[in-house]
Amino acid sequence: MKVLVTGGVGFVGVHLLPWLEHDSAIESVVILDSLCYTSIPSVLHGLSDKFKFIKGDICEVTRVADLVSTVDVVINLAAQTFVDNAINDSLPFVMTNIFGLASILEAIRKDKCRQRLVHISTDEVWGEALVGSFNEESPYHPRNPYSATKAAADHMIRAYGSTYGLRYNIIHFPNLYGRWQYPEKLIPATIARLSRDEKARIYGDGQQTRTWLHVNDAVDGLLRVFHHATMRTYTLGTDDVWTNLDVVKLICRLMGKDETSIEFVEDRLGHDRHYVVDCSRICQELNWRPTIKFEVGVADIIAWFKAHQRWWETAHQ
Ligand SMILES: NC(=O)c1ccc[n+]([C@@H]2O[C@H](COP(=O)([O-])OP(=O)(O)OC[C@H]3O[C@@H](n4cnc5c(N)ncnc54)[C@H](O)[C@@H]3O)[C@@H](O)[C@H]2O)c1
Repeated sequence: MKVLVTGGVGFVGVHLLPWLEHDSAIESVVILDSLCYTSIPSVLHGLSDKFKFIKGDICEVTRVADLVSTVDVVINLAAQTFVDNAINDSLPFVMTNIFGLASILEAIRKDKCRQRLVHISTDEVWGEALVGSFNEESPYHPRNPYSATKAAADHMIRAYGSTYGLRYNIIHFPNLYGRWQYPEKLIPATIARLSRDEKARIYGDGQQTRTWLHVNDAVDGLLRVFHHATMRTYTLGTDDVWTNLDVVKLICRLMGKDETSIEFVEDRLGHDRHYVVDCSRICQELNWRPTIKFEVGVADIIAWFKAHQRWWETAHQ
């Protein structure tokens, strides 16, 4: 099997590529990535000749069509991902997350839907879970420009499924954390600020709840869907539901700081209060389980950040 991984040099990609290296069902992997600010190009040095890297944009329609025609499966990880950036300027999000995805869809359609698409979505497409939890059948209600572009992409994929017979899988990830995550997201940003003896920042009252999943568990779920999916859509989640304030307090404690190291700043516009998902489909059908407890995973990242200070200091904007 030949695979194209778009956005493979980002946070999720760098954790996925080593698994593809050792996957005997996969003959070759082409990575297409524009190397935007969140990417980690240093990972490319360690790859075997099973991989071919191409610097390019998923919005380049002709190039995408040429690459798609050479593979059997496309795993789309390419996206603009930071909600704050989307609130400041949604256009790059519309370009990559909708137009770029549409260029992949068109490439597949023009090749008679020969390729399967495995696409990563988010739990944010469902909006706030004020009562109960969301699953694969829940109606979409995105509340910020990032999640709206992710929702639009999912709708496009389903439309290509029913109109043209596209074979696809959509996997909803909750909030992920792990090594190499760009230090704009809550956990690495907090570690970076506390490491510099700056105060950790909390939006609003910090009572927003999120489901936290370690990136290694997310990649395990992705690979189970890739190899064994019986359904089109899966949701990953955990019981590790934390308020943002408790996450920051945990990091403070693990880094030997007290709560005077936390400052509350103006809340994010349209900030979703709660995300809670029901991931029983993937647990029951594909025997997936999260394996890394949140406190353990966070402690690992703190230690890892200490050892990789140069990376996050130069990565941090
Ligand atoms: N990280 C999370 O917490 C999380 C949670 C839910 C869903 N997701 C989804 O998972 C996927 C991967 O996220 P991530 O955390 O690895 O993001 P990331 O920002 O770390 O990586 C994205 C990668 O895509 C590349 N890219 C961006 N625009 C591109 C374009 N136009 N053409 C080609 N490459 C482009 C970037 O250079 C980068 O290497 C995304 O679809 C994201 O929405 C992530």
